[in-house]
Amino acid sequence: MNLVAWFAAIAVIFSSAQARAEAPSQAPIVIKFSHVVAADTPKGKAAERFKQLAEKATGGRVRVDVHPNNQLYKDKEELEALQLGAVQMLAPSLAKFGPLGVREFEVFDLPYIFPSKEVLYRVTEGPVGQGLLKKLESKGITGLAFWDNGFKVMSSNKPLRTPADFKGLKMRIQPSKVLDAQMRALGASPQALSFNEVYQALQSGVVDGTENPPSNFYTQRMHEMQRHLTVSNHGYLGYAVIVNKKFWDGLPSGIRTALEGAMREATVYANAIAQKENEEALEAIRKSGKTTIYVLSDKEREEWRRALLAVHREMEPRIGKDLLAEVYRAASVYAGR
Ligand code: LMR
Repeated sequence: MNLVAWFAAIAVIFSSAQARAEAPSQAPIVIKFSHVVAADTPKGKAAERFKQLAEKATGGRVRVDVHPNNQLYKDKEELEALQLGAVQMLAPSLAKFGPLGVREFEVFDLPYIFPSKEVLYRVTEGPVGQGLLKKLESKGITGLAFWDNGFKVMSSNKPLRTPADFKGLKMRIQPSKVLDAQMRALGASPQALSFNEVYQALQSGVVDGTENPPSNFYTQRMHEMQRHLTVSNHGYLGYAVIVNKKFWDGLPSGIRTALEGAMREATVYANAIAQKENEEALEAIRKSGKTTIYVLSDKEREEWRRALLAVHREMEPRIGKDLLAEVYRAASVYAGR
């Protein structure tokens, strides 16, 4: 072997040894992050952003595999899968914790309880939100953050302008007793269905209408099945980002700290894009020409609010008088500023 070839061989051996030395000495810690919405939604984009931030912050010691659109687990399965450790991270809607026995999360489902996102953030980013996440620990779950989606619109195949328009309609809801009471207060019949069943249920007539932020409505192609949409902003839909507690507590502390930082950054991103994502989805629905969009006037919204206020009283025993009072205080303090 001539001298040049000999030096080239030495160089290859050296560089691959160096690469091995720099690479993580053991296989990466894998976080399977499963969710039920399209990748092109506030939650879908925030999950991808968390992946990028987490892998960078841990120098590749952690790999986050995001599984959108029910690829791994559907609504009814994902929480149990997390508790069993089959997945490590989820971001379920706040309306989906009642069946787990943490009914206080349904405070977020109360109609017209948040006059603005600012009041909402006072709750989710303050002691009330932290107290709610703590309640998950007895279920083997650690709550890491609240991610925003947006205020909900109503849809059906007839115009929905007054509470009376809902009479007799079968309306799809998430599995929340507060949402059940909300639809009954409007004279509708609530039908709790998993998110992935909604399109089919609209197509087959199992349900007549839905409620969701525009980003979910559009990415699930509900505008193909619903001729009317009312911008009512009558309720809120957001998420709790949660991990399996045993997995989280078992992480090396340096890794956990790095992931907490990545989650804080991903949360800022999630809340920053949510409003725009929903505005763009509403515009895309309008451009599709398949769904007539109606925006409630202030007077009409006040009529809806009056028709729905009784739900607060009715659900107080379920949510808790003190928690309800804390959320009202957050709202009135803001209103007073
Ligand atoms: C729904 O079931 O309508 C939503 O919770 C879906 C989601 O996760 O945004």
